[in-house]
Amino acid sequence: MKTLIVYGSKYGSTKAIAHWIAERLNFKTTIRDVKEAPSPDAFDLIIIGSAVYTGGIMPEVRCYIDKYLDVLEKKVVALYAVCLDTQGVYLKGKVHGGWEYLMPLIKKFKNPPLHAALLHGEINPNKLDKEDYQRLMYFYNKVLHRDYAKVPYKTKMNKEEVWAFAEKILSRLEGNQIKGR
Ligand SMILES: Cc1cc2nc3c(=O)[nH]c(=O)nc-3n(C[C@H](O)[C@H](O)[C@H](O)COP(=O)(O)O)c2cc1C
Repeated sequence: MKTLIVYGSKYGSTKAIAHWIAERLNFKTTIRDVKEAPSPDAFDLIIIGSAVYTGGIMPEVRCYIDKYLDVLEKKVVALYAVCLDTQGVYLKGKVHGGWEYLMPLIKKFKNPPLHAALLHGEINPNKLDKEDYQRLMYFYNKVLHRDYAKVPYKTKMNKEEVWAFAEKILSRLEGNQIKGR
């Protein structure tokens, strides 16, 4: 199955996850940063991933989907978002975090994607630019009322979780083939 994985990533975890997905699928796969991604036209399976920043998917990824939505609707599509809060919390009638990040992408499709998931990423303070470092310090100390002197290194990257995502895609593809026989 000719596969394209398009990712939006600022510090590399969504890119690393794209490679882990490709490794497990074991299809002929092209992996591209969304900034230089080709049209999905020549591919059968398109997997689109985005890092989450300040409660949302990267704008470049939203634009890619908007640009190629007509083509994508005719293909097999899977989506993933990479973040720290994959679960989200319920508060006063609203969900914050978790699926809240991915639903706006899913809702763009009339023909629902084959699979979608929230996958764990990481924060490596050594990689962050000055603005992001300050944003996180504000979030930890002013919003969460912690008393951090520096941004802590947090990794929740989990290859097993990523492979489970790829395996679900494989099993759903197989299910579709059986139904189509
Ligand atoms: C400035 C900033 C804002 C972030 N905002 C969120 C957020 O709203 N929710 C969340 O779960 N994770 C958030 N994260 C964590 C990122 O989603 C996580 O670091 C992810 O692995 C980044 O992917 P990348 O390395 O591909 O850029 C944020 C990280 C930074 C640096």
